[in-house]
This record gives sequence, structure tokens and C-alpha cells, in this order.
Amino acid sequence: MIVARAPGRVNLIGDHTDYSAGFVCPMAIDLATTVRLDVGGDRVELTSRDEPERASVALDVTDPAAVRPAWARYVAGVVAAVRPRVGGRGTVETTLPVGGGLSSSAALEVAVALALGADDGDRGALAAACQRAEQLASGVPCGPMDQLVVAGAVAGHALLIDCRSLERTPVPIPAGIEVVVVDSGQARRLEESAYATRRAEVEAAARALGAELRDLSPAEVEGMTDQRLRKRARHVVSENHRVHAFTVALASGDLAAAGAAMTESHTSLRDDFEVSTAALDALVERLAATPGVWGARLTGAGFGGCAVALTEPGATAALGLPRRWVVSAAGAAQRVSSTEGDST
Ligand code: GLA
Repeated sequence: MIVARAPGRVNLIGDHTDYSAGFVCPMAIDLATTVRLDVGGDRVELTSRDEPERASVALDVTDPAAVRPAWARYVAGVVAAVRPRVGGRGTVETTLPVGGGLSSSAALEVAVALALGADDGDRGALAAACQRAEQLASGVPCGPMDQLVVAGAVAGHALLIDCRSLERTPVPIPAGIEVVVVDSGQARRLEESAYATRRAEVEAAARALGAELRDLSPAEVEGMTDQRLRKRARHVVSENHRVHAFTVALASGDLAAAGAAMTESHTSLRDDFEVSTAALDALVERLAATPGVWGARLTGAGFGGCAVALTEPGATAALGLPRRWVVSAAGAAQRVSSTEGDST
């Protein structure tokens, strides 16, 4: 039996910058998805405790987005992107909230790909195959961030990713801080969200300005006449700067500055990029106003899902938040021996 485990991720800062070759700083978390697979046959058949129907995917599947039940699309996406020669039968288990903005789908994709024998030496290639799987499965034109951090994380570190070169720089998470993830309670489905519209707007802004947004200054963006595109571009340009300010602040232990960059990121995602919701705004405001919280923001695509906060240990414990996780920085997805896999 092959056992593969892949972490979810929380993005500390840098949202809606990955698909325009910008900068992001996500962290893999200690909530994960485990796939156990007995190899053989010409289908991939998986059951999940969280899903009433199993996934059963032919190795020659051609249209992953049409596969039923819905969760099986991600398995089908991986099969289509990796094209394994042999299938298998097994189970999926996860400690991640599914569809909550913590990249449960990227974790599933990378775990399935590793279980199906994808090369685990080249983490960039593994992530690219799984990004393709996500796009095939969901139709959402996602960027490279989620699969890259799931496949390429380093334990104890966040990952600064340059989404143009795909270079990854581990950023140590200092001792004595908590990274807290809180679910807004608002379900999120990117297929139904304006994700694709936002991506198209960012691309239109870059075309209008004749350059990639990461290479432009705030002043160049302010010269745009189209108000909507100007706001979208302003978010991307300012967010790329905040990612750098954040990583420098974190590395030097200036948690007040790191937190301030996070809270400014939320404001920009709310006002300029318009991907927040009333529930996320209220949650972030409450977190940011709590003593011992250095900063808070929505995390991931927005439109619902989770917020992330950087805090002193225990600062949010008494807030009575029903779905709250104190997460630590996990390492990358890996194939583990069946004994190890069964021990958790
Ligand atoms: C989703 C996508 C990522 C990224 C974020 C927003 O998680 O999968 O590629 O675009 O949204 O930063």
C-alpha cells in the first residue's frame, strides 16, 4: 500500500497576486489530507469518510469537470494531468475543513498525485501538474500558489514565492507567535465567485499599462483612466510591496510591522480588489481590535472562507470563535510508509 500525505495552507499575505507573476507568502499547515492506495487496475477508486459517494475515475478520463460526485473531479483532474499507467483502490482522510479556503483541494490533488506515483523529486513540476488538475476539475483559472506551497513547503517556515521565476525562499516563523485561522462560517465556491472576472481584470490592467503589474510603481497605476481597472491594479501593486514588507518585518522580529502589513492587505482586498464579504470584514475587524493581535486579514481568494491573524500566544482563545485553529508551519507533502501513515 502507498500512503501519501499533503498539508493544507494558509496564505499569510499576498492574495490575488500569484496569477500576475507577483509575490505571495503562504505557509503549509498541520492540517492535512492522507491518501492510502493499493495500486492496480485501470481505475482510481477512492472512498472518503466525509463524502457519501466514492470517486471512481477511469485512467483515460477526458473531461474531469464532468465527473460525479463533485469531489471526484479533483481526483479526475490529477489522473488527467499525471496520466498514471496503473490505477488503484483506497481511502482519503482529511483533518482540513473542506472548501474553507485552506486549500483542501490542492492537498487532495498533491496527495493523490504522489499516491499515483508522480515524481516527487521535482516539486515545481509536481505543483504545476496539480495546478493543471485544479483548473481541469473546477474550471477556475487559479494561479500557482496553493499547489506550490503544498508540494514545496519547509517545516517551521512560510514560503516567499516569486510567481514569475517560481523561486521559493523559506521565511522562518519566529518563536513566540501564533498563526490563528478562523472560519468566517461563510461557505465559498470559487466556481460561483468572481475569481475569473478578477483575473481577467488584472490581465486587462496589465495590457492597458503595457507591463506586468509587479514591474510598475504606484504612480504609474494612478495614471490609469479606467477606475475599476485602476483599483484592481492598485491592489496588486501595493500587495506585492506588502509581501516584501511583511517578510522583512517577520525576519527582523518586528511583529507590529508584519501585522500592520496584513491588516493593510485586508483593507486593499476589501476596497480595491472587492473580494471581501461583510462576515469577513466583521471578523477581521474584531480580530484586529483584540489585544495581543498584531494583524489580521482574509486569506486566500476571499468571497467567504477564512481569516488569518498573527498574535501573541493565547490572544484569541477567549473570543469564543467556534471554528478556530492555531496552526503551525508544516513541511511539504510526501509519500510515507504505510506503517507511518497508519500511525496517525
Ligand atoms: C485561490 C487560488 C490561488 C490564488 C488565491 C488568491 O486560492 O487557487 O491561486 O489566486 O486564490 O490569492
